[in-house]
Amino acid sequence: MADQGGFPHHMIKEIFEQARALHDTIVPRVSLDEAAVQLREVRINPEELRALRRINIVASGTSRHAGMAGQYMILELAGVQVDVDYASEFEYSNPLIGPGELTILITQSGETADTTAALREAKSKGSRTIAISNVVDSTIAREADGVIYTHAGPEISIASTKAFSAQMAALFLFALHLGQTRNKVSRDLARNYIRELLALPDKTNAVLRCAAECERLADKYHQVEDFLFLGRAIHYPIAMDGALKLKEVSYVHAEGYPTGETKHGPNALIDEALPVVIIATCDRNDPASVVRYEQNVSNIKGFKKQSGRVIALASEGDSEVSGLADHTIFIPDAPELLLPILEIVPLQLFAYYMAVRRGLDVDRPRNLVKSVTLE
Ligand code: F6R
Repeated sequence: MADQGGFPHHMIKEIFEQARALHDTIVPRVSLDEAAVQLREVRINPEELRALRRINIVASGTSRHAGMAGQYMILELAGVQVDVDYASEFEYSNPLIGPGELTILITQSGETADTTAALREAKSKGSRTIAISNVVDSTIAREADGVIYTHAGPEISIASTKAFSAQMAALFLFALHLGQTRNKVSRDLARNYIRELLALPDKTNAVLRCAAECERLADKYHQVEDFLFLGRAIHYPIAMDGALKLKEVSYVHAEGYPTGETKHGPNALIDEALPVVIIATCDRNDPASVVRYEQNVSNIKGFKKQSGRVIALASEGDSEVSGLADHTIFIPDAPELLLPILEIVPLQLFAYYMAVRRGLDVDRPRNLVKSVTLE
């Protein structure tokens, strides 16, 4: 346990390192006084950023989920259309990309073969490219025009945790920078967001205090073989990643779905045998978030009517959701676009404790490798 800092596994150590990963990714790049974000290694000049017609985000697995969250951040803050693709599917779709566009490759390792192939394809078609990577001088970081490094530190456990939250923070920094460059974000708004970014590490530490609760949940649910994870809008990628973590480390079947899609099929499955994990946080300052929240409340009522068991993530002090759900984990308040960075933490903890409870090799799940260097 020496190199695990006293933790029994790398995965739990890395989950607990998230506040530090966020601090190191955010703090050197923002100035509250100047209300500015500095991304020196992006190496794409402001004129080009202003003229961008479209952004493609290409990645695999968890990194693609970060990209899906990034899509909402960029759309909201910079008003640029964003498409998100699986790196493994990118070349088959013969993407219509070219000059005047930007392709962002997100990759913890910087060596994933599918993502490397996508980078080369995008470059060959004339798109500008930026890598978001955790490994300095990795193949993808070297070959892209620009790079934003996540400073999450080495990630040993196969399941990606701290790199994921750092990727979302890097994407938010880029979205804010792009929004300012394109005059879509005022100085006041930028300053508010920077203040909120700087508060994230402490809030992450606050969320980590739910570890014992997540362990108790795993004690209760460790024999269940199917879960449904639900989220709307920017919370949907977090549902997807919560499901992926559970699948890969505890070998439990889990699906991530947009909450609004349940009535188009999956609802038929929901009863006492299929627990639902629903992200039902709310940013009370954001009217769209409040609307989604009310829809979530009505969904939870529906699930309870059909005898579903509901584990909810809710905003601190939310007695409405906690009154309805079987279990509620509270998330500190944050702007809608930053909530995902906090929401993923309990889902990682739940997957970890489920794997431990099922007696599995948490850091090295079967059939998986840390860096997928074959296409
Ligand atoms: C899941 C996980 C994988 C990776 C994927 C991409 O926990 O770790 O899904 O996210 O293999 O890897 P990178 O980010 O290195 O390109």
